[in-house]
Amino acid sequence: MNVNGIPYKTVWMEGSSVFHIEQNKLPFEFAVYEAKTYQQSCFAISSMIVRGAGAIGASAGFAMAQAFLSAPTNARQEYLLNARKEIEATRPTARNLFFATEKVFEAGQISVENAVACAQKLAHDNDADGEKIGILGNELIQDGFRIETHCNAGWLGFVDWGSALAPIYKAHQSGKKIFVYADETRPRSQGARLTAWEMVQAGIEHRIIPDNAGAYLMAQGKVDLMIVGADRIARNGDTANKIGTLEKAIAAQYYGVPFYVAAPFSTFDLGCPDGAHIPIEERSEEEVLTQTGPDADGKIRTIRVCAPESKAINPAFDVTPASLIKGIITERGIIKPNEKEILKIAQHDR
Ligand code: MRU
Repeated sequence: MNVNGIPYKTVWMEGSSVFHIEQNKLPFEFAVYEAKTYQQSCFAISSMIVRGAGAIGASAGFAMAQAFLSAPTNARQEYLLNARKEIEATRPTARNLFFATEKVFEAGQISVENAVACAQKLAHDNDADGEKIGILGNELIQDGFRIETHCNAGWLGFVDWGSALAPIYKAHQSGKKIFVYADETRPRSQGARLTAWEMVQAGIEHRIIPDNAGAYLMAQGKVDLMIVGADRIARNGDTANKIGTLEKAIAAQYYGVPFYVAAPFSTFDLGCPDGAHIPIEERSEEEVLTQTGPDADGKIRTIRVCAPESKAINPAFDVTPASLIKGIITERGIIKPNEKEILKIAQHDR
């Protein structure tokens, strides 16, 4: 996707360095973070310099490749197993992370070059899958549609294209007049800060809405379609996504708004029977108690927005039951959220 007219990927590897668009600085500043070691890539993931299931997966694959590049000849396998453990401990919910470390770890048993090639291929597939999701999802979008989305599942959440926003890009590029509601998505405000910024870059008409405005707009008949991304999809179709998604799905069902999930096959966890088994990340309460943005001098500051004595709880994701999801848009087709259909697309070879 283009940033001020220049094409970028969200994460890429050159030599032994991994480069990430610094998402904590957006939309106030555009910067790139260079991770020279797998430990620095771990830092990029855990501190959310890079975020979003797909981008985390690509970054984790590259981090695993970096570990192969730096592994000593002595106690090599022990070093690699520890590195894998460290990478996998950065964020627990995004399935794509574990998908990538497993594939690159296996590839690296043949050679270091093979590990790097595998990580590059995963990043390439991540990008290509997003475009296919965009093409298939565009078929659900009619001219004039007003589409709500939650969090950021656009190109910043993947290597390029994204999942939930890919159909929106394709619809816009194919000349359909569309309008996007970007849920603010507290506490980290990925919708307000990232989705809205992506919409600006793409020239798509949109408004940021408070997290609690979705049901009101649906009740007024102002939402034609809702598309969200996913961090992990269980074998029965239950879907973990950014906290707040579940409320939107309940409201969407009540008001008859079609509610779709968009995700590549790398987000499906066939070993996970249902949503109750998906690990949900608890993040720092500081994220809830504070807000971050530029002050009058343009310096990014974090300020507390509640009483000093107050405490918070901060679950980063929730699980939407399959029964509330109309369909899942994957690169292998649009499917119903049930075990039979999920196992069927698992048979497809790339
Ligand atoms: O905590 P984050 O920002 O990494 O959250 C993950 C997400 O971006 C979302 O839940 C998203 O909607 C699906 S993954 C692109």
